[in-house]
Amino acid sequence: MPVTDLTPSAAVAAERSRLLEQRIVSDPGSFRVLSGDRPTGALHLGHYLGTLANRIRLQALGVTVTVLIADYQVLTDQDPSRNLPEVVRGLVADYLAAGLDPDRSLVFTHSAVPALNELVVPFLGLISDAELHRNPTVRAETEATGRPPSALMLTYPVHQAADILFCRANLVPVGVDQLPHLETTRLIARRFNDRYTTALFPEPDALLTDTPLLLGLDGQKMSKTRGNGIALSATEDQTAALIRRAPTDSHRRITYDPRTRPAVANLLDLLAAVTGESPHTLADRIGSGGGAGLKRVLTDAVNDLLRPLRTRRRELVADPGHLDAVLDAGNASARELAQDTLARVHTALGMTYANRQRPG
Ligand code: TRP
Repeated sequence: MPVTDLTPSAAVAAERSRLLEQRIVSDPGSFRVLSGDRPTGALHLGHYLGTLANRIRLQALGVTVTVLIADYQVLTDQDPSRNLPEVVRGLVADYLAAGLDPDRSLVFTHSAVPALNELVVPFLGLISDAELHRNPTVRAETEATGRPPSALMLTYPVHQAADILFCRANLVPVGVDQLPHLETTRLIARRFNDRYTTALFPEPDALLTDTPLLLGLDGQKMSKTRGNGIALSATEDQTAALIRRAPTDSHRRITYDPRTRPAVANLLDLLAAVTGESPHTLADRIGSGGGAGLKRVLTDAVNDLLRPLRTRRRELVADPGHLDAVLDAGNASARELAQDTLARVHTALGMTYANRQRPG
């Protein structure tokens, strides 16, 4: 998304992100990153370009990266057909294939870390019902379902605060749609520290990426459930077939004009994100190749980009025991972190009488 399209608070976050990038390079050890995905389906090219590649970049810089598979969050949208074990294992494969190193980073699920979920209880006392109702992202998601929000939907920004604060993360790579949730996390951290006179929680920063928001092949928001993205797990033939079905127009000469030729511009945007070149340059090069020519170039570019990742992914899914072991180890580390934080929370709340683990 061009910076001019950002709301004032998003523009501030974008400016702050540039500053943070400089600090990350000079002092990576002072950052702990928490990022998460809802296990609603296979990750696609948009995830790779938007967030996955960024996590790997941060890991390579020496930042501790913690990745949450937010399984409790999928309960907010009711899709009984979802095969959670398969989706979760697929996500672990996507992360590892993209380069997440389980020796340096950590992958875990909500449901395996009770102490994280327990943090929601004291956090709920720090935010008002009215504040929850004002969250624009929750409102948009609620409107999309056409039903009144469940209490879980309304409180999921509080749960997300627990996701971030359980490991006292101070950096959260997100898209602009997640900024309201991050504000809730900062508010909860601040109020907890104020009310219980402690410095336990950092106020985490959002780290916005420069990658523009990519639309799906049909020009709609790219989404796991809409099936309009190119799954990392897709084969080269499936990728070609998906791209072949994308709409274009009947002009032979390819030009980049998002207003009058949105379908063609969308494919050029995707190609630009994959190759790092400008959409105008790419359009000139394809010239009179037409929609078919554009699709051929895009198919090759996507398949070339994903080939090494897909090769690793095929090897990984052939060994599900290894994927489970990586998740088990991540869950164990996350439990340790969460129990330590919860013990400190209990101390701050004066709940020191029970036979609990003492803060380390
Ligand atoms: N809400 C995020 C999404 O829909 C997923 C998520 C859950 C998350 N917990 C998080 C992201 C904590 C960042 C930090 O994509």
